Amino acid sequence: MNKAGLPDTPEARTAFMKDLKGWIIAWDPKTQKAAWVVDHKGPWNGGILATGGDLLFQGLANGEFHAYDATNGADLFHFDAQSGIIAPPITYKAQGKQYVAVEVGWGGIYPFFLGGLARTSGWTVNHSRVVAFSLDGNAVLPPQNDKGFLPVKPPAQYDTKVTDNGYFQFQTYCAACHGDNAEGAGVLPDLRWSGSIRHQDAFYNVVGRGALTAYGMDRFDTSMKPDEIEAIRQFIIKRANETYQREVDARKNDKGIPENATLGITP
Ligand code: HEC
Repeated sequence: MNKAGLPDTPEARTAFMKDLKGWIIAWDPKTQKAAWVVDHKGPWNGGILATGGDLLFQGLANGEFHAYDATNGADLFHFDAQSGIIAPPITYKAQGKQYVAVEVGWGGIYPFFLGGLARTSGWTVNHSRVVAFSLDGNAVLPPQNDKGFLPVKPPAQYDTKVTDNGYFQFQTYCAACHGDNAEGAGVLPDLRWSGSIRHQDAFYNVVGRGALTAYGMDRFDTSMKPDEIEAIRQFIIKRANETYQREVDARKNDKGIPENATLGITP
């Protein structure tokens, strides 16, 4: 994880973004060529379902659920499911009626580990639910808070003597869940804006002593010494200072959600 960490420079991010792609390819086995292609904004979209009625269904990482014409990829229908979709849809018949159902929810190792850059496909906040469609369905989703973890002005001071070691410890023990280089992707708390980074003991209670183990946040006092955990806190405060202003600027629009999902570079 240390070796795979991406430097936060426009050059590194732009080069990396070029490889973040996603699409559907319909393959013609006879001609050994693509029959048609639908481009997506980025990777980590849902699995696909084809039906006997010549339809192809897919949910996308940006929360859209689509029905395509299976013969040419034309977009016949889409629905805003409000949250990234990575599961494949299914179809079934119940009491004579056909349904298409999909599990909606943003997650997996891509947004966990890749953090901020997993926003390539568009901004969503995780709302987990099952949505089922039918031809005469008319249910609507409740309004949601799409803003996610908002930037909070971080403490101004941090100890630059320990932040390199803090990065090393963070990438080793935390990045796989809280995001490369401490940028969250909307599933778990974005540690840069966490109240717990404001106080050494508060942070140690969560990270060292395991105050949140019941919620899936492990304790690390057997893996690291208290000063190593404190170095992580200093590193997160540094990252919060480095990125705070660009995160605030990215939200300066009507909706208050980042327009440039990659926060800092143009894809
Ligand atoms: C296996 C995944 C995983 C790993 C690895 C992990 N965390 Fe967490 N962390 C979580 C989850 C899940 C939560 C949310 C718990 C909750 O809902 O209260 C969390 C919450 C936190 C919080 C509380 C944030 C807040 O304001 O609510 C802090 C601080 C934190 N983690 C720090 C760390 C640090 C530092 C590391 C590395 C030493 C780390 N975590 C590693 C899963 C993880």
